[in-house]
Amino acid sequence: MQNMIETLGVALGDRSYPIHIGTGLLKRLDLILPHIKQKKVVVVTNTTVAPLYLAMLRSTLESGGISVLPVVLPDGEQFKTWETLNQIFDALLGSRCERGTTLISLGGGVIGDMGGFAAACYQRGMPFIQVPTTLLSQVDSSVGGKTAINHPLGKNMIGAFYQPKLVLADISTLNTLPERELKAGLAEVIKYGLIRDPAFFAWLEEHLEKLLARDASALTYAIHRSCANKSEVVAADERETGERALLNLGHTFGHAIETGMGYGEWLHGEAVAAGTLIAAELSHRMGWLDQNALERIERIFVRAGLPVFGPRLGAARYLELMSHDKKVQDGKLRLVLLKDIGKAVVSDQASDAQIGAAIEARCT
Ligand code: NAD
Ligand code: GLY
Repeated sequence: MQNMIETLGVALGDRSYPIHIGTGLLKRLDLILPHIKQKKVVVVTNTTVAPLYLAMLRSTLESGGISVLPVVLPDGEQFKTWETLNQIFDALLGSRCERGTTLISLGGGVIGDMGGFAAACYQRGMPFIQVPTTLLSQVDSSVGGKTAINHPLGKNMIGAFYQPKLVLADISTLNTLPERELKAGLAEVIKYGLIRDPAFFAWLEEHLEKLLARDASALTYAIHRSCANKSEVVAADERETGERALLNLGHTFGHAIETGMGYGEWLHGEAVAAGTLIAAELSHRMGWLDQNALERIERIFVRAGLPVFGPRLGAARYLELMSHDKKVQDGKLRLVLLKDIGKAVVSDQASDAQIGAAIEARCT
């Protein structure tokens, strides 16, 4: 008997695609095969994930007569660079991959973002499949088509919107995920509650310990609900001309932390957690978010074992790093702030002095 799977979709017309969530999905040729057009695929992964899951995915594909070219990259946010991206192109060209060859990203958000960007560029676009293996990538980065590499001056600054054909989220892979990475993923899960789903936030307050204990049904529910929120937003605003910006709650501060501390020092989810608390602090100081809501937000991040204070880089350095943010318009910084739990807005109303004061209050 096959394990239960849940399926939802991202509705983007003829570029719509399914997201399958469940256990044992790396073995499900029937779910993958309909999305592959040629007899050869490239699997982009890294030195940590390859020994864990490459053989399993490979044997599934080979059982369907598909040959697999593995591309195993170094592991880490510090390798999300041009140089590493070029290793993918070297492998694709070296083994004569065609425009119709499918590229599969097997790994966390770093591999997903880099593989996706390579797929967007190679011969101006080859088919792409996301097989996310971290909580963060299953709830966020594998869905929605944002692909990128980092630049020394800013996170995810070079990239493309490029949608996958399929997202296969096998929650069995989360059993090998280090504790710190699981917690980092929870930051993006909590985000959906904060920006648009207050009932989900309340559910998380009740079930956080189950998620930390990797309870399969709690994880499936949280991943499903996160993906449902994300796919609704992406379907409404694929290119981030409006609502999609709300998915960046805490990210403007968080990206400043990641870049300012050196890529890989703070995990993305950790930086987003501290950044969310700075955004909540600022929202409170602007009179938008009440004390009770601020305390609820701080409490859930503390319970998730995530940082609620950023590193003390100095407000001026934060503001300098944040000036590269992709939401800057006509030189003016726009931030995602909270009016309440479940209600986020994009605002340019906070002055540098107000932003600086919130940063100083929320950094240690
Ligand atoms: P990651 O890709 O670095 O993975 C975290 C660590 O876990 C790595 O060491 C990885 O090798 C390891 N790993 C992966 N799966 C594993 C498994 N099943 N068992 C054991 N170890 C495993 O980090 P992440 O948190 O998945 O992703 C963060 C990245 O995602 C950042 O670069 C961020 O910018 C990006 N991101 C992109 C989007 C988007 O919309 N495209 C959204 C959010 C974040
Ligand atoms: N992670 C933000 C987005 O996909 O828009």
